[in-house]
Amino acid sequence: MLSRPRRNRSSAAVRNLVRETELNAGHLVQPIFLMPDARARLPIPSLPGTFRLGIDEVLREIEDCLTVGLQSFMMFPAVPEEHKDKTGTYATAEQNFYLHAARAIKDRFPEVCLISDAALDPYSTDGHDGVVINGKIDNDETLKLLDAMSVAQACAGFDVIGPSDMMDGRVGSIRRALDKEGLMDTAIMSYSAKYASAFYGPFRDALDSAPRQLQDVPSDKKTYQMDPANAREALREAALDAAEGADYLMVKPALNYLDIIYRLHEAHTLPIAAYHVSGECAMLLAAAERGWLDYQQAASEALLSIRRAGADVIISYFAKDFARWQVRSSGL
Ligand code: PBG
Repeated sequence: MLSRPRRNRSSAAVRNLVRETELNAGHLVQPIFLMPDARARLPIPSLPGTFRLGIDEVLREIEDCLTVGLQSFMMFPAVPEEHKDKTGTYATAEQNFYLHAARAIKDRFPEVCLISDAALDPYSTDGHDGVVINGKIDNDETLKLLDAMSVAQACAGFDVIGPSDMMDGRVGSIRRALDKEGLMDTAIMSYSAKYASAFYGPFRDALDSAPRQLQDVPSDKKTYQMDPANAREALREAALDAAEGADYLMVKPALNYLDIIYRLHEAHTLPIAAYHVSGECAMLLAAAERGWLDYQQAASEALLSIRRAGADVIISYFAKDFARWQVRSSGL
């Protein structure tokens, strides 16, 4: 035999030499669910280990993450029902706790990268990412609301706006709105290929943001989120977002969509982000709880695979644990 690939696997030192993919805390983003009550710490039953936190707890959590090299955070608000309405007015309200929290975080930790979520669903009594008018998601009316929401988020201190709504034209619309307000330094991480996935369940539990079962309100998000059967359509969405001024292109979910991550990575020069979503993490945690999988090994392999497929940035509920394991294994 002339070729024996096993020679390059013969020891840890050799395996280190030939390793093709590296993953470290610098590539990871930790999602954070924010509650209005400053001292809140509420578990999410369908996502063990992740909590809905008040700002006091969030500041403590961020401090903790920074000690293990994790410095990017994506924030989602758990908005009380009494603040919700059809058009998500609370998104830009003066008293909005999400905007206040961003200010508090950036005041205390100016070095962190804070990423927002721009979509109507946390604020909407209909539970949709866009505004529902006559039983339909109205694209262009939603754009106006997203523009205002994004400007408010950028003014509050978010470094990156994350439109997760899948409306047509929103990246360009948000970019123009930000620039008009002199917010040229605020970036846009576009959820370019966001699929109508069954894996968002625990997230919707956390925010109580599932589409409502009401008459005259569509019961799913299939008229705006993408069909899991489609790959070329993701290239089309990504090309539009790139042309409209996106700074990052995101694929979501991640593990069932590694082919999409790879294709976008090959087709574009913009950084590719992948969102390892709540349901993907919950599945693994559930198996680990039963002793069917080893949490650390399985989670590390999942994150590494997403990176190998071509993700520059990975948003995952495992980010903090992974960063901690790395610090421990490096003996620092
Ligand atoms: C909604 C939004 C969702 C997620 C991020 N932003 C859910 C949805 O589209 O219904 C899901 C993230 C996760 O499951 O971890 N704007």
